[in-house]
Amino acid sequence: MQRSLTGIKPTNAPHLGNYLGAIRPALRLAQEYESFLFIADYHALTTVRDAASMRTNTYDVAATWLACGVDPTRIHLYRQSDVPEVFELTWVLACLIATGQLERGVSYKDGLAKGESPNAGVFNYPVLMAADILLYDAAVVPVGRDQLQHLELARDVAQRFNHVFGDDLLVVPEARITDAPLVPGLDGQKMSKSKGNSIPLFAPAKTLRKTVMKIVTGSEPLEAPAEAEGSTVFDLYQLLASEADARVMQESLRTPEYGWGHAKQALYEALEAELGPRRETYDALRADEAKLDELLEAGAERVRPIARATIRRVREAVGMRAR
Ligand code: TRP
Repeated sequence: MQRSLTGIKPTNAPHLGNYLGAIRPALRLAQEYESFLFIADYHALTTVRDAASMRTNTYDVAATWLACGVDPTRIHLYRQSDVPEVFELTWVLACLIATGQLERGVSYKDGLAKGESPNAGVFNYPVLMAADILLYDAAVVPVGRDQLQHLELARDVAQRFNHVFGDDLLVVPEARITDAPLVPGLDGQKMSKSKGNSIPLFAPAKTLRKTVMKIVTGSEPLEAPAEAEGSTVFDLYQLLASEADARVMQESLRTPEYGWGHAKQALYEALEAELGPRRETYDALRADEAKLDELLEAGAERVRPIARATIRRVREAVGMRAR
């Protein structure tokens, strides 16, 4: 089975947009591969500035993915920082990458354009990401379009390494573009933590309902026909309900006795049906950090031999003592 690998930055507690846009599609795809899924805490360190958030976000992310269906006996779930071998490869790769290529990095350039002075972690981010992938001989990396440039760099540097030090030493990864659905937030803009328009994933049912009721809709009176197409409520509903149920909502909205309040109630019920059972699992997992540590450490134990084998191969190839 081919290997696929994805990293998740623990920068926020996952919200509904992360679930519908990233987690659910990734778990569907994971069936087809031997999957590596890791919490990219070293990458998060480019922005996270306090230990408590790093810890909390790491547990939130781990518990969320597990509650959403990661079977830790089948999918390798681990913390990036539990396998520090990644740094040895990062250095070797850095020595093969021209600074000019990193200067063209999108996040680094964006930072500069905004007048920030990006830290060296931001500059080197793509090198660490290439090491994440190449360390485990991943053949496939599911990515959104925003990560394509990073993937290109990982492919480039793998090819360069093989060209310089010997054929087939590193697996050249393929990007698999996952066109994740765009998930609108409360105000209709893309749902994101920083915009403050997100719907929490595992808030209690009452809070979930209250949040759904805040979604911005048209202001036509109940009796007036409303157009489902292009509305946030309907867009979200479509991501959860069957096609038949979505059509029912669309047609009901055109009738005088069904309005946005009813549509929101239907959306809430669809959300609760999908999330309710997972919330219980999440709450149980999240309440047991020792258990989460144990699961993540077990994942790291399983992948570490693969990392070590790659490092041995690389050290040997560049003329160091293979350990
Ligand atoms: N850069 C990715 C993001 O921001 C996270 C990430 C880190 C990653 N290392 C990776 C993704 C390796 C895929 C493969 O979403």
